[in-house]
Formats: sequence, C-alpha cells, structure tokens
Amino acid sequence: MSAEIFDKVKTVLEKIKMAAPSDAEQLEQFRIRYLGTKNIIKPLFGEIRNVANERKKEFGQLVNEVKQTAESKFQDLKTQLEAANESAESSDLDWSAPAEPIVMGSRHPIAIVWNRIVEIFSRIGFTVAEGREIEDDWHNFTAMNTPEDHPARDMQDTFYLLNDPEMLLRTHTSSVQARTMTKLEPPIRIIAPGRVYRNETISARAHCQFHQVEGLYVAENVSFADLKQTLYYFARELYGDSTKIRLRPSYFPFTEPSAEMDISCFVCHTEGCNICKYTGWVEILGCGMVDPQVLENCGIDSKKYTGFAFGMGIERQAMLRYRINDIRLFFENDVRFLKQFSAADR
Ligand code: PHE
Repeated sequence: MSAEIFDKVKTVLEKIKMAAPSDAEQLEQFRIRYLGTKNIIKPLFGEIRNVANERKKEFGQLVNEVKQTAESKFQDLKTQLEAANESAESSDLDWSAPAEPIVMGSRHPIAIVWNRIVEIFSRIGFTVAEGREIEDDWHNFTAMNTPEDHPARDMQDTFYLLNDPEMLLRTHTSSVQARTMTKLEPPIRIIAPGRVYRNETISARAHCQFHQVEGLYVAENVSFADLKQTLYYFARELYGDSTKIRLRPSYFPFTEPSAEMDISCFVCHTEGCNICKYTGWVEILGCGMVDPQVLENCGIDSKKYTGFAFGMGIERQAMLRYRINDIRLFFENDVRFLKQFSAADR
C-alpha cells in the first residue's frame, strides 16, 4: 500500500517539474491546482495515515518537497512572465509595421574578376597557389633572373622595408613562381592571384597597389604552342567566343622568349574605338617560356623540364570589362561605385 502512495506523490512531483505554462492564464491554472485552497497537494499530507510507521518520516519529507517545489516553481514562472510582459509593453515596437527592405551588399569588382579568372583556369587543371605580400629580394628578383642593375630593382619602383633591406613588398606575383618551384616537383600547374605593390605616382591609370594573377606550368615537353592554346582558351572564356589573340615579342627577365598578348577589341571587334585607342587590339598580359636559368635557380632540372608563365593585372581586366576609366575607384570604397556591381555575380 505505502509503495503505491509514494509513487502517486512522486508522479505529482514530476508533473510540477515538467509544467510549462506559457501565459498568465495557464499560470493561474497551475496556481489553483497546486497552491489554491483546494489544491491537490493538501490531501497528500492526509495520506500519511496509510504509510507504515517506519516510512512516515520519509513520506512527510517527500510531500513537503512537492509543496516547496510547486511554490518556488510558481514564483519563478511568475517573475519570468512579468519580465516578458514588461519588455513587450515598454518597447514601442509596432509589430504590424511593414519591414525595412534588406539591402544586399555587392561583391567588389576586383573580387568578381579574380574569382572568374580562377574559375576559368581551374577548369583546365590549374590550382591556386599563394605566396606572401612581404617578400624577400631573392624570391621577387634574384630567383626570377632579375640582375642587380635591372631598372625594376630601382628604389623608384619597389617599396623596401626600412628595417631590413632584404625585404620588400612584392612588385609582382611572379615571386609565387619561385615560392612554388622551390617547394614542388614538376608537373606544376598553378595560378596565383594576389596583391602587389609599386612605388608609382597615383593617377587614373596607375596605383601603388593593385592585383595580378600569375600562371605557371612546368612539366616535360611544355611548348610555346601550349602557352598559346591556354591563353587563347582563357581569352575566349573571359572576353567571349569570338575573341582573337595576338602575341607580340617582348622582354621579361624571367621568360625567354617573352611576349605580350593582345585581344581583339571586344567593343568594336577591331573596327577601332576609344577602348582600343583605334588600334582594334587591347593588351592584356605578359607571358613567355620560363627561362631555364629560373628553373635552375629554383632547383628544377632545365634539361628535363620546360615551362610557360604568364601574368596579368586584375584591375586592367576589370576596367576593360566594366568600362572603368579610373583605377583609383577600386580603392576608395565609394558605395555609389561599389553598389553598381552585383552581389550574386561571382
Ligand atoms: N611579372 C610580369 C609583370 O609584372 C608579368 C609576367 C609574368 C610576364 C609571367 C611574363 C611571365 O609585368
């Protein structure tokens, strides 16, 4: 008999613990049931008659616990409910007011073009490599076959770090070529997008910081034809199917032979317009076969391996694509400029 009564009391205790009134009315029901004049706990005290003598004390304690639990739970719930009511009342929120429209941010045009270039090259097996913006002289110049007296080393162009003349802000992403070739064995097929710095007077056409994407492919039997075909594929993907390319001989210390690549003007299709300055062609990148000396500098056997490399300015591609005529706009964070680009565009 007494075991049953114990169970009954324990069930009541559980119910009290589980109760979760969510408004004033439900709380009032809770109060009436457990703490009101006809509450269901009171009769439980009377049940002590039916409990065996040796368990009477235990039973009394249990029923007391039930009562105390009900009281403290009621107090807690009441304070909670009051606090919730108070904050709802004191705020002058108008729950029926129409919502403010959500203004989506937009992607920076440099990021859009950066991602697009990465995507185009990743489709043909290039993976993204990283270097560092604070670079040492060796990776930026020496390894890249740029002799001590080369004009690119001139203090005019390069930001050197004052406390260490060996350290500088990289002037091109070609330093990532050296970083990668000293670390990996061929075949190597990477692109390296990133920020570069040059000590230039800031104008509509030049800035002291901008972005480049470097490409590098080193393996057995890599030829100039591979370079041409890769760049042709790239030009058509970025500028449209009808794009033609033109390679002009050029010079870079780290490639031999070297070339500059033009694309047929995507505005006038070689008719002549102010984008192509009436030449029909626009220059978009520098490229060439990796100079064997550069491979050797980086510990790669130039008798076994050949490679090609290219480098292009991201601002340049973005300026062409969006007809932007002032490079400074990319760095000024003027919302009127930035919000013209889409958030969805990647
Ligand atoms: N680093 C060169 C520049 O900044 C571009 C380039 C990269 C040329 C790779 C050839 C090969 O102008």
